[in-house]
Amino acid sequence: MRAIEISKPGGPEVLRLVERPAPAPGPGEVLIDVAAAGVNRPDLMQRQGNYAPPPGVTDIPGLEVAGTISALGPDDAAGPPQSANRRVWKVGDEVCALVAGGGYAELVAAPGVQCLPAPAGLSLLHAAAIPETFFTVWTNVFERGRLARGEWLLVHGGSSGIGTTAIQLAVARGALVIATAGSAEKCRACEALGATRAINYRTADFVAAVNETTAQRGVDVVLDMVGGEYTARNIECLARDGRLVQIATMGGRMATIPLWVVMSKRLTITGSTLRPRTPAEKGAIASAIEREVWPLLTAGRVRPAVERTWPLKDAADAHRALEQGEVIGKIVLAVQPAGN
Ligand SMILES: NC(=O)c1ccc[n+]([C@@H]2O[C@H](COP(=O)([O-])OP(=O)(O)OC[C@H]3O[C@@H](n4cnc5c(N)ncnc54)[C@H](OP(=O)(O)O)[C@@H]3O)[C@@H](O)[C@H]2O)c1
Repeated sequence: MRAIEISKPGGPEVLRLVERPAPAPGPGEVLIDVAAAGVNRPDLMQRQGNYAPPPGVTDIPGLEVAGTISALGPDDAAGPPQSANRRVWKVGDEVCALVAGGGYAELVAAPGVQCLPAPAGLSLLHAAAIPETFFTVWTNVFERGRLARGEWLLVHGGSSGIGTTAIQLAVARGALVIATAGSAEKCRACEALGATRAINYRTADFVAAVNETTAQRGVDVVLDMVGGEYTARNIECLARDGRLVQIATMGGRMATIPLWVVMSKRLTITGSTLRPRTPAEKGAIASAIEREVWPLLTAGRVRPAVERTWPLKDAADAHRALEQGEVIGKIVLAVQPAGN
């Protein structure tokens, strides 16, 4: 099969189109004939040599795909049957799937529990842009952050793949959203997706803007991918019983925080990473998403914000665009037809 490999750690130019042996689906897995693969910031980190795949996972990058099931793994005693969690897949089913790696390829093996039916009304190109951000946002904003109807959410990086998903899901579930982004155009995009207010963090202080927007009350949940010096400011933005959910540290891994404020406002600081979690844990998230989010997707109330697609062979150009901050929402690699 054709696949993109990271020939050595480095810039986008290290991505190479190569021939690799097709993977064989193991117990509990399905083989997916990939139509499209989503591109995410963690793929860039992996390419740079800063985010190794978990043990036993292919070195081919790519955390999400959509396509057609072309084979089923053996359901034997060596592992959970692919039907253990939710549903029995069959050859020919169109699915989107969260994978721990291997998405930038014509074929990928995925645990059956990490697959979801491609939502009716969306192309496979769009379906490929769903799993990574929807799983991440669901488990962090709604499970860990417990965002409820009527509450305020502050989303940093509002125009990112994660941000565009968080804004839409929070609004669709009755919450109010404030987003930050790095340009006026990105702020407009956040508001078009439903944010009550978007703050250009390069020209305005987000703490002051949050206080002004919420009449000094603060927000109930902060979804943060920046960390570093944002952390103390996030804590300042939180209302009583607020929750800070950390999903990345693009601005710094370490932070100094006012512990007295954590105590007096009864705050919770939490966070998570998705990729190293077990198929059973990811399957539990998939079940929750299928129940709570799939009806919103099929009704068109939320959509993956796909901005642009590239053919698989041009993965380097896709990485360049994401790295240079040119993208609002998601980008996708078109894998089939084979000319791509
Ligand atoms: N924990 C998990 O399980 C998990 C899962 C998936 C992704 N992630 C993380 O979530 C983040 C978003 O992923 P993605 O794929 O959606 O990325 P993306 O589309 O490339 O977006 C990255 C965003 O980060 C913002 N940003 C970067 N540096 C910043 C800074 N110093 N201050 C403020 N904003 C900054 C950019 O905002 P502007 O362009 O507006 O400047 C951009 O919108 C990544 O860090 C990724 O590693 C975590």
